[in-house]
Amino acid sequence: MCYSNKDRLIVRGGKKLKGEIKVQTSKNATLPIMSASLLADGKVYLKDCPDIIDVENMVKILAKLGADIKQIGDDYLIDSSKIMDACLDYELCKTMRSSIFLLGSILARFKSICLTFPGGCKIGKRPIDIHIQAFRRLNVKVTELDDFVFFNATKARAGKIRLKLPSVGATENIVQFASTLKGKTIIYNSAREPEVVDLCNFLNKMGAKIYGAGTKKITIIGVEKLKGVEYKPITDRIVLGTLLVATAICGGIIRLIDGNYDQNKKLIEILSLMGCQINIKNDIITLSRDIPLRSIPKIRTGYYPQFPTDLQSIILVLSCVAKGRTKIDEKIFENRFLIVNELKKMGAKIDLIDNHTAIVNGVDNLKASNLKAFDLRGGASLVLAGLVAQGETIIDNVHYIDRGYCHIEKMLKSLGADIERI
Ligand code: UD1
Repeated sequence: MCYSNKDRLIVRGGKKLKGEIKVQTSKNATLPIMSASLLADGKVYLKDCPDIIDVENMVKILAKLGADIKQIGDDYLIDSSKIMDACLDYELCKTMRSSIFLLGSILARFKSICLTFPGGCKIGKRPIDIHIQAFRRLNVKVTELDDFVFFNATKARAGKIRLKLPSVGATENIVQFASTLKGKTIIYNSAREPEVVDLCNFLNKMGAKIYGAGTKKITIIGVEKLKGVEYKPITDRIVLGTLLVATAICGGIIRLIDGNYDQNKKLIEILSLMGCQINIKNDIITLSRDIPLRSIPKIRTGYYPQFPTDLQSIILVLSCVAKGRTKIDEKIFENRFLIVNELKKMGAKIDLIDNHTAIVNGVDNLKASNLKAFDLRGGASLVLAGLVAQGETIIDNVHYIDRGYCHIEKMLKSLGADIERI
């Protein structure tokens, strides 16, 4: 890890991308899996974890709790046997929304926890009411104060939960909590994201009895103990999507190793319609683009398997340089068009109708500019805009991008992009 808050990226646009790359492991799978490793009665060995700030922070939070963590290359050996209580580091938790994923495992293990309302991104309100309601259904006592929420699970019992929205985080918390809760817990309207499935696969490898992951109904039969295991979380479908769009935007040809077509179906459909040639062979995805990009009329984000909100700003940038008009509807978060003003500085034509809808009219070229990242995925999108802009683009606040992308400049440079970190 060698990231600093003062880092900036310099991107000189106009280079085609070419090459082969192995996509990093998923941030959104690794974080809850790290949390769930607290449930193991034994050591957990996590392979090939991404070298990103969110993982570094999660490791710090676990270490402050008292876990013994050894880093071996990109692998982590986590031994949480010596943790005695659940005193979280509130300052660290504020920096990272993902600290909310510790709720399920800590509550299962220590029966009580006090959380600050989690921080992390500026993309929306991101309340935790669904988590709270779900725990209350399992007879967990929840007391909400101004800055803190107390959870007490001494009288918890298995039960049936219906989520009002298929929240990824709430599903992951309940799955972790119920894995060792006596009896049968059922989650209706559960999230179906591949990262939820990966967490369930990890827990099942540890000895949990979780059925229906990837569907709208997950059933968990509580077991007494979970054992330590070795596990490699799935590939990051959002980073994979970012690389496909980067090649679509710059032109060229890319081969992605460890790619999963099913998890990226929606994006691949859209890129094909926009003029990219895509070939899938086993776990290798090849994308090339040598004809001009054409826009598609409408892109709408939604819960999996719909188009992911985490790729919304990425596809927005692509639409900015495609011929024609695109309406982009953001259905999940209420503040996910933070990059629009930055893109307008580059000459993009975007009308923000409201916080959920943008109309993009493609232009022939973007021009380089001095830009600021305001959130993780928006930051990566600005890098893509820089890759296609004429001249030298400077991007500040790179630490947002470093939360989820493993050395983005090295990754793109290896494909021929002209990009450096200073
Ligand atoms: C996870 C992902 C994030 C992704 C999001 C949606 C991780 C670490 N993060 O976030 O990258 O963008 O899924 O795919 O895995 N909501 C409530 N009340 C709640 C919880 C959520 O109203 O208690 C709302 C949110 O404001 C949002 C929607 O439900 O509008 C989906 O949120 P959720 O699925 O919970 O997202 P996260 O788990 O936070």
